Amino acid sequence: MKKKLYIKTYGCQMNMYDSARMADVLAPLGYAPSDSPEGADMIILNTCHIREKAAEKVYSELGRLREVQAGKAETGGRTLIAVAGCVAQAEGEEMLRRAPQVDLVVGPQTYHRLPELVARAERAGPGRGILDTDFPEEDKFDRLPEESRPQGPAAFLSIQEGCDKFCTFCVVPYTRGAEYSRPAADVLAEARRLVAQGTREITLLGQNVNAYHGEVPDGRGDWGLGRLTRELAEIDGLARIRYTTSHPRDVDDELIAAHRDVDALMPFLHLPVQSGSDRILEAMNRRHTADTYRRIVDRLREAQPNLAMASDFIVGFPGESDADFGETLRLVADIGFAQAYSFKYSPRPGTPASTVETQVPEEVKKERLAGLQQLLGEQQLAFNHRTVGRRLPVLLDRHGKKPGQLIGRSPYMQSVHVDAPARLLGRIVDVDITEALPNSLHGRVATAICESGADSAMDNQHVERAAI
Ligand code: 5AD
Ligand code: SF4
Repeated sequence: MKKKLYIKTYGCQMNMYDSARMADVLAPLGYAPSDSPEGADMIILNTCHIREKAAEKVYSELGRLREVQAGKAETGGRTLIAVAGCVAQAEGEEMLRRAPQVDLVVGPQTYHRLPELVARAERAGPGRGILDTDFPEEDKFDRLPEESRPQGPAAFLSIQEGCDKFCTFCVVPYTRGAEYSRPAADVLAEARRLVAQGTREITLLGQNVNAYHGEVPDGRGDWGLGRLTRELAEIDGLARIRYTTSHPRDVDDELIAAHRDVDALMPFLHLPVQSGSDRILEAMNRRHTADTYRRIVDRLREAQPNLAMASDFIVGFPGESDADFGETLRLVADIGFAQAYSFKYSPRPGTPASTVETQVPEEVKKERLAGLQQLLGEQQLAFNHRTVGRRLPVLLDRHGKKPGQLIGRSPYMQSVHVDAPARLLGRIVDVDITEALPNSLHGRVATAICESGADSAMDNQHVERAAI
């Protein structure tokens, strides 16, 4: 009898990848993923610590799950509850004290040990939670089994974890630990397996993905991300490569050259800048200035003129003046972003910026965020409008809400809605873009729908990149 496993994932794509791998690790124990917590034999909350009140939200979710546990107990069963991810790492022991119904607290670096931890939790019985938030010597990736289920047309592949940058606002270096790159041979092998199962697009993941420096297959030296994308592009059937998230400091010549030479590398780059003020960038310990960011983007656009830029911004960092915020708006106007995420600064316990006395009042943060989001929203809509009337290659990777509708991604990460038969799922088709909305596009499939259609669209993908 299969056991029901429900995983709720918060936060970034890295966590989505980790959740899939946790399901892989637990499959040999008879756990099969399910879409709802009701009646589950095991529930995992894979948590994120980046936002304010992250831990509080997890505690209230745990409160709600008590009912599920009680329901299961009535039928004579037991629901194991595990908390994984960055809140688990940060809270540790405290989580077991505050939420005694939790059976297991496991950090992002130790989930390969889940089978053993689950066996221990089953033996220990309710109220005797088990904690594993080590940063172990052994390599987690060496101990994970191969992926047990196809990931679909667009898949994630984690190549790097952790961060040594210590931006003064960020918890990641504390929750995810030191920077680590997977050996290139492992990454290539996982990519080949994904492609063999039907994946056409791979997004390489890492907290600092372009700090990648994986050991080369013959063990002599390292490959950077630029070289890795060249090697991945050789895999037959892999049409698209993306990577996220990167740091301006780690954009090197090789990566810029890859944007020029590697056709499969999509012309969309998420490169967080956080602020346009040098004073604030310095206080954030970002180790780049606004102008070095501008120069990096210039060089990337020289290499790949179609490159659409995306970024992250924080407003109201301690000490940020109106003039500093004005510099951020100026940078946004200079670069022109196709997409962006922006946040009010929120003090994270344990980070250097959280104890600085010059915290910006909430009202000011709110006002600045609204101003920034207005500008970024206008830029995104203008970017989307510029694609209307064009023919773009779209990888159809999911069903839409309406019957007969499929949704896919343009090369620039825009969601594109089309009416198309389900058999086109997983294919790259040419789409004539007819309408632009703030967060999506609508279009008509233009590719002749025959078996070779995908390939002709792939050729067009290259033509299109040259044309924009
Ligand atoms: N406050 C606000 N935003 C933050 N981010 C990270 N830490 C904080 C914080 N303390 C944002 C950054 C980062 C993104 C993932 O989350 O912009 O790039
Ligand atoms: Fe956090 Fe900065 Fe590292 Fe990004 S580079 S994960 S923002 S410390």
